[in-house]
Amino acid sequence: MRIVQITDLHVGREGEDTFGVDVRANFLKVLNAVRQKQPHYLVLSGDLCYRDGDAEIYEWIYEQMERLGIPYDIISGNHDDPVMMAAAFGRSYLLKNEELYFIKEFNGRPVIFLDTTRGVISEQQQQWLRRQLQNLNEEALVFMHHPPLEAGVPFMDSRHALRNRIEVQGIFLGHPFNVNIFTGHYHVEKVIRKKNIVVHITPSCYFQIGQESEEFQVDHYRIGLREINWDNGVMMNSVYYFNGETNR
Ligand SMILES: [Fe+2]
Repeated sequence: MRIVQITDLHVGREGEDTFGVDVRANFLKVLNAVRQKQPHYLVLSGDLCYRDGDAEIYEWIYEQMERLGIPYDIISGNHDDPVMMAAAFGRSYLLKNEELYFIKEFNGRPVIFLDTTRGVISEQQQQWLRRQLQNLNEEALVFMHHPPLEAGVPFMDSRHALRNRIEVQGIFLGHPFNVNIFTGHYHVEKVIRKKNIVVHITPSCYFQIGQESEEFQVDHYRIGLREINWDNGVMMNSVYYFNGETNR
């Protein structure tokens, strides 16, 4: 089974200046690479919108996804509105108390999708997550926007980390198998591990953030996608980069 993950598109409104980066062209470029890879599934892991959830932006992304014709799922980031997003993609039935979290089978393997729009995993969602993991007698595969571990990226760790990460880590640590988590949000490529929790942070389709500074810094404008292969119980994955469309 081959899955491609794309994250942090930050698509602006039509004609909006997004700091000199053509985010729509970037997204289309990455989608072209997906078209060549022909994965079984595609996941857009949040921050589809530049600043805030916007129906027109979701509509435009929805049209691109329909044109692509590959089964896909979406989760919400801190620059999204899960209710508006679910409506635009025809998935309002998945909402629980205005949050978009769900479990779905990819080729017979359960995959968990979480909602961290508000920078936390809500109490109700934590209970749901515990139940899903209790029913799972194998390694877990999870997509969420925020990494649940600190990543050694000072600017993001100190200002934009998942606020209740210790509680959430506790849930994952209770699973007697590896928990493989694929995130975005940090605009870096990084793998971090704590005991059975393995977090793969996937680079953005916008720009990447400097990994050493307490202050905001752009690292580079190359954009990426992650390909995940999961066959016969073995997971392998790699990140691919492309030149971003920018006048910077
Ligand atoms: Fe984010």
